[in-house]
Amino acid sequence: MTSIEETKTVEIETGSNQEFGDLIIEIKDLWRKFFEDTPAEVVALKGVNFKVNSGEFITIMGPSGSGKSTLLTILGCMAPSTSGQVFIDGTEITQMPQRKLSELRKNKIGFVFQDIFLIDKISALDNVLLPLLPYGIKKSDRERAIELLKIAGLEDRMHHKPAELSGGQKQRVAICRALINNPPIVLADEPTGNLDSQTGGEVLELLRKVNKEKGVTILAVSHDPKLAEFSSRDVMITDGEITRDRINPFRT
Ligand SMILES: Nc1ncnc2c1ncn2[C@@H]1O[C@H](COP(=O)(O)OP(=O)(O)OP(=O)(O)O)[C@@H](O)[C@H]1O
Ligand SMILES: [Mg+2]
Repeated sequence: MTSIEETKTVEIETGSNQEFGDLIIEIKDLWRKFFEDTPAEVVALKGVNFKVNSGEFITIMGPSGSGKSTLLTILGCMAPSTSGQVFIDGTEITQMPQRKLSELRKNKIGFVFQDIFLIDKISALDNVLLPLLPYGIKKSDRERAIELLKIAGLEDRMHHKPAELSGGQKQRVAICRALINNPPIVLADEPTGNLDSQTGGEVLELLRKVNKEKGVTILAVSHDPKLAEFSSRDVMITDGEITRDRINPFRT
């Protein structure tokens, strides 16, 4: 069995992985405490340092409560940190005012939730377009949404409402929604957590396609062994710390 010390050495090499593009995410000494300085204090992230290059596909694993979702929601500009720095495409986000944070999120990040969160009353196509609603939906947006749904293999399902779709189809709609803003980064928190392995496989295949064909950088929390097979790197978080970080030389 490989020791933590050995695998941590790989972490340093990963930051300069030649196969990929420029640095797109950089995390420096990131801490997140809940109920700070009270008897109930929980330290969810303990000085995380982490670099991601553009085009990487990273699987994040770790026991329940180890800090995976906390990390992803901070990266997704949806939750604050306690201290440390987070750079998204060169911009430091931890001190950013809310308005600018929303703008950065809109331009740079697509988020895929475990619980999917589609609106039941509207079609798959309208669900994909939803993030653009505050900005006014243009004809070109509609065309793009249709193109994404085609890539996701949902051409014949786009006018159906979520209740008429399978779990895997719904999650693929949610991935299209995460991609509608053309973000360079997609964060996915257990995107196949509620799906059986067959439907989960379809969802993972879509993520792989998006990464390979569109060069989108993907960070996905998942324990699905299939995902680990085709991700370029896998990271283990244990008790708020990165305890393994290794490149996958056998990426399929
Ligand atoms: N809003 C919150 N208030 C208080 N504690 C929280 C909050 N969110 C998370 N925590 C705590 O922070 C720690 C990390 O939680 P997190 O949700 O990041 O874990 P996780 O690795 O995603 O776990 P799981 O695999 O179960 O989803 C846990 O101890 C959790 O109880
Ligand atoms: Mg979680």
